[in-house]
Amino acid sequence: MIYATLKLLHILSIVVWVGGMVFALFFLRPAALMLEPPQRVRLMHAALQRFFSAVLVAVVLVLVSGVWMMGRVAKETVQAGLSFNMPLNWTLMTVLGLVMMAIFGHLRFALFKRLNKALEASDWSAGGVALASIRTWVAINLTIGVAVIGIAVTMA
Ligand code: HEM
Repeated sequence: MIYATLKLLHILSIVVWVGGMVFALFFLRPAALMLEPPQRVRLMHAALQRFFSAVLVAVVLVLVSGVWMMGRVAKETVQAGLSFNMPLNWTLMTVLGLVMMAIFGHLRFALFKRLNKALEASDWSAGGVALASIRTWVAINLTIGVAVIGIAVTMA
């Protein structure tokens, strides 16, 4: 029951994180391109501020639930008198998940700050540059995220 709840939490957090990146890249950004730079930068800033706050919570939940599930399996295996060997897909998921979290940190605490400053200074060209970098790193994280889902599900 606890394991199933942890897994549900893990997957729902991934849905918010990866699904949000799909929405931002393929739906919100192209639609926002129809606006003039001041409106576009304001809209993207407001949307990303909310999204990044939700991702911060999702990242904590993914990490806590993932490590907790591993801990439970390892403990039960050892208690049964067997040795615990981490499955390859779990190792890959952990390593790539940590890479995704580092990229998210760069997005939230470096690139989004640049977007903030550009907005405060009403510097729309600097805002456009910050948004272009955010787009690139979100695309990279989305690619890794889809690969991790593939690894988690097909190698299980
Ligand atoms: C560093 C953080 C992570 C850790 C420690 C972790 C750990 C785990 C563990 C222990 C499971 C349970 C596997 C099972 O019951 O067979 C799991 C399931 C899963 N994880 Fe992660 N994970 C992490 C990050 C991620 C990320 C970033 C994604 C996707 C982008 C992801 C996607 C999934 C999926 C889809 C499952 C369900 C697999 C299945 O049951 O078929 N995980 N994770």
